[in-house]
Amino acid sequence: MPTTTQDILTKADDVLIGNYARFPVVMERGEGSFLWDVDGKRYIDLFAGFGGGVLGHCQPDLVRAVREQAGRMWHVGNTFHSAPQTELADRLNRTAFKGKAFFCHSGLEANEAAVKLARLRGGQAADGAAGGKPGAAKKWKVVSMNRSFHGRSLAMVAATGNPAVKAGFEPAVPGFSQVDLGDLEGLSAAIDAETAAVLLEPIQGEGGIHPVPIDYAIELRRICDERGITLIFDEVWTGCGRTGKWFGHQHFVRADGSIVEPDIMTLGKAVGGGLPVGIMYAKPELAALLVPGRHGSTLGGNPICAAAATAVFDVIERDKLIGHAQSLGEHAIARLKNEPSIRHKVAQVRGKALFLGIELKQPPTGLVEKGIELGVLLNVTAQKVIRLAPPINIDYATWNAGLDLVVKAIAAT
Ligand SMILES: Cc1ncc(COP(=O)(O)O)c(C=O)c1O
Repeated sequence: MPTTTQDILTKADDVLIGNYARFPVVMERGEGSFLWDVDGKRYIDLFAGFGGGVLGHCQPDLVRAVREQAGRMWHVGNTFHSAPQTELADRLNRTAFKGKAFFCHSGLEANEAAVKLARLRGGQAADGAAGGKPGAAKKWKVVSMNRSFHGRSLAMVAATGNPAVKAGFEPAVPGFSQVDLGDLEGLSAAIDAETAAVLLEPIQGEGGIHPVPIDYAIELRRICDERGITLIFDEVWTGCGRTGKWFGHQHFVRADGSIVEPDIMTLGKAVGGGLPVGIMYAKPELAALLVPGRHGSTLGGNPICAAAATAVFDVIERDKLIGHAQSLGEHAIARLKNEPSIRHKVAQVRGKALFLGIELKQPPTGLVEKGIELGVLLNVTAQKVIRLAPPINIDYATWNAGLDLVVKAIAAT
């Protein structure tokens, strides 16, 4: 087995498809919010592997949960029950709304399942069931948002509001269109009698950390109710405490204190703590449409992954990490807005809790590379938005040390 950076890079070039723009760094081990490369260099991880590592690396409770489950039962077909699945679904019932779960392995699969379920409901409506009028149009189309990201399958490429993601994979899967986030008139114009679902992220991630305005969410819910449309919140980035609530939509609070809930919520990334877990979580009346034979996944709900995901919920609750994420985020926003060395370069700092975007006035050159040189891992999206999404259990001192390096990297590039 090659062990030096150069050997591994040479071998990778030979054997790996080059679909990722990778930096010439080979990571070897992690602990908490730190990663070390094969040369022993340490990095503060402020991006948590695109959000998957919500509790950092090798969190002891997750390691224990995985070890215990791995020693008991690895995999069982979904023609049988297993306790880890019901435990995990129960955690969602306790932290979100009353619903039922379907398990898969990734965010895009959760979104695919959500769209299939919305189409089932749309077909029922045409049959006169599910509150529809007999003979009404079958509802099958999906409206999503410009600047959105929903995954890389053909349907999710069609749902994603970024032309660069779609390019080269035409013809597009039919039935998907996009409107601008916040534009209610545009949304009303895009919806027709065949619209089955509206799909959106509570905070757009890839698009550059753009939170959905509360008033827009409230009105969107009203429109969907009025027109029999399924509202899907893609919480693949915003789930599991990252935004300072269990789920991003819990920020959408009406004047009477009620929360704007979706009909379906999709999860990925953080929910498995870095293991491949996707969840499509639906209100019970909708979930009832997904009867045997309509959808499935061989390894979905795998006991080891489900045990890890349940431990993610338990650790977040036990260690009060939602409040922790909230206060670290507030600290960072206040600090980054007032750093004298970068004030002239920063256009805006936005986001919630530990899902932050620093929008620069100009697209930076070599910023992520500078961070790597300094020993901090970050991400740039939408050309000029630095994304910070560390493990939400990062301690205050490490967070501050990481922010020092982010400021240094911005100042230097
Ligand atoms: C909001 C959102 N939805 C869905 C996905 C797709 O998730 P996955 O890569 O697990 O398929 C992503 C990935 O970045 C995402 O950011």
